[in-house]
Amino acid sequence: SALALGAIGLTGSKLLKEPDDSLPKTRFPEGFRWGTATSAYQIEGATAVDGRGPSIWDTFARLPGKIRDGTNADIADDHFHLYKEDVALMKALGVKTYRFSIAWPRIFPEGRGTPNPKGLAFYQRLIDELLANDIEPYATLYHWDLPQALQDRGGWQSRDTAQAFADYTAHIVRGLGDKIGRFFTLNEIHAFVDLGYGKGIHAPGLTLAAAQLNQARHHAVLAHGLGVQAARANGRSGLKIGPAENITIALPDVETPQNIRAAEHATRELNAAYLTVMLEGRYTDAYLKEAGADAPRFTDADLKTISTRVDFVGINVYGPGAFVRERSDGSGYAQMKLPASYPHMKSPWLGFAPQALYWAPRMLQKLWAVKEIYITENGTSAADEPDEDGRIDDLDRVMFLRQYLDQLQRAINEGVPVRGYFLWSLLDNFEWADGYETRFGLHYVDYKTQKRTPKLSASFYKKLIERNALV
Ligand code: NOJ
Repeated sequence: SALALGAIGLTGSKLLKEPDDSLPKTRFPEGFRWGTATSAYQIEGATAVDGRGPSIWDTFARLPGKIRDGTNADIADDHFHLYKEDVALMKALGVKTYRFSIAWPRIFPEGRGTPNPKGLAFYQRLIDELLANDIEPYATLYHWDLPQALQDRGGWQSRDTAQAFADYTAHIVRGLGDKIGRFFTLNEIHAFVDLGYGKGIHAPGLTLAAAQLNQARHHAVLAHGLGVQAARANGRSGLKIGPAENITIALPDVETPQNIRAAEHATRELNAAYLTVMLEGRYTDAYLKEAGADAPRFTDADLKTISTRVDFVGINVYGPGAFVRERSDGSGYAQMKLPASYPHMKSPWLGFAPQALYWAPRMLQKLWAVKEIYITENGTSAADEPDEDGRIDDLDRVMFLRQYLDQLQRAINEGVPVRGYFLWSLLDNFEWADGYETRFGLHYVDYKTQKRTPKLSASFYKKLIERNALV
């Protein structure tokens, strides 16, 4: 009561119904692009509909023991048929942007050659629905579903795949370019090459030796560069394109000038075969030295292509890539060991490190003077269980988002040019080798009925977008 407030000296101050986010620095910038993200293979299903060809994930998921719960993505979220419902979910959240991927095997069932117009037609329908709801579409051209026919000819081990990607890109920007002008090339080269061709735990399940693995990485970054060029040559003027890479982020802890220097150094080296070569047009000396005889074979022309100017850089940010400190003799950085008690989210690989969302964009600005940054993915798995009333109170996901976004705001307040944020993911989906066991969605999916239910985190995100401030 006023009396009680007066007694503790608060008379006259007004208690607001909600926190005062009109104060400087508590709001995100005007026009900040709040969005959600998904990928084709993880949500669409309908893998044999309208002439889609098989992808490496269709093949891989059928190998015994590769997917933890023995599932595949033949149906997934059935988004191919339910896309209007899913756009309505986004509309209800209030998101302004949506990042989805185009399934290459829908467009070119054989990887190259004769295109399948019915494949493109699906994305035209989806884009029309998004635009009708004032949601800006951002399309990822490659999110891991390589046409099986290309894998049969070597996949990313073959340089031809990079050219095939450029041809596919040209076809997409010609076919969709009048409706959509923003594209990402390849999603997480680091993940799909290393897990699929190195560790063998993602499609196509290979465990190549270092020399072949480095060569596959090289072909993938080359595909990125060729794709940027093909998009510009064939798309409308004003088209914008960039990568969506999972930066391995080195974190300084404690934030001393020395540790920050070490983290910058480490971030450049840990991303040498991916973002660093894409943004600098050179493999670092340390990378080439360490690879030795296993270094990729490349030409100067390749490096020019790989580092073709991009309009923006997208980064997927999850756990800490590494914690580092400067060596006492000043000779570079030392990586710290993560204590066994370091907290992680439902997925053991997802260590809780909110400051990654501060340091990752800041490093892009510092190391490579990037002028337009998107967080193309951020989010977490959680052990979501509907209660007896069917509610999913994912308090851990809300905690994760609140802490990470606070750090993103810290970066923005310091002038780091982050223009948008795509939360992974709109809805629970096929989490690759984890199958459906691992849930990342703002909406819970009951896979028996395809019913979508907003989780607590969906209300949190909706409120945040509405106020354009942390809540
Ligand atoms: C990265 C990938 O791009 C996406 O496909 C995956 O589901 C999420 N991270 C979560 O692991």
